[in-house]
Amino acid sequence: MISRDLSALPKRDVYRILSSLVIPRPIAWVTTVDDVGRVNLAPFSSFMGIFGPPMVAFTAGRRRDGSLKDTHRNLKANGQAVVHLADLPLLEPLHASGAEADPEVSEVARLGLATLPSLQVAPPRLADAPVALECRLNRELDLGPASTLILLDVVVAHAAERIWSAEFDCADASLWTPVVRLASVVGPNYGALGETFRLGPSELP
Ligand SMILES: Cc1cc2nc3c(=O)[nH]c(=O)nc-3n(C[C@H](O)[C@H](O)[C@H](O)COP(=O)(O)O)c2cc1C
Repeated sequence: MISRDLSALPKRDVYRILSSLVIPRPIAWVTTVDDVGRVNLAPFSSFMGIFGPPMVAFTAGRRRDGSLKDTHRNLKANGQAVVHLADLPLLEPLHASGAEADPEVSEVARLGLATLPSLQVAPPRLADAPVALECRLNRELDLGPASTLILLDVVVAHAAERIWSAEFDCADASLWTPVVRLASVVGPNYGALGETFRLGPSELP
């Protein structure tokens, strides 16, 4: 067994090691709008769903110059976002949208992604994303000088018909290929959902 005391390591090593261990991570692909309506898009893989209450959460770090990321700044200003989940055909634009860009650059326009209006929030949703969750900011939790946990209430959930099971009246993972984040620094950095299983309720033997 390799054992590391994370409190004794430099931050960069902690990030490299822990992001290679906590895998696979779903990726929140987030649209927000700024005060003049420009649409921002960025991926966040320190991401989780909280299903009761209906919420999602991700952490936003800081830009290289220490300022807030556009997604975070827009959420602070107007409290609205759409969190998408992407499938394999969208992996390249998803990855490209993680490049640090000036606030006036719309990654959606730059990447030529089609959008649809949302029902209850101002940021549009990505037309080709199989899942889009319209969200409102619930609260932020400061995790130190360089990281903020952002908690969002999910107000509307959209799913493409092609991933929907009429039998179960919810999405069926066997009908699409969600992409996931692996190690963030070295090694393979993305994966796609592979084999899936269906077991009954848990029982101890
Ligand atoms: C797959 C992927 C996952 C990422 N996950 C995170 C994350 O969880 N937290 C974070 O702060 N940045 C994360 N990033 C980096 C941001 O996407 C990047 O800083 C982006 O430029 C932020 O854009 P914005 O300033 O438009 O919000 C990730 C990048 C990629 C490609």
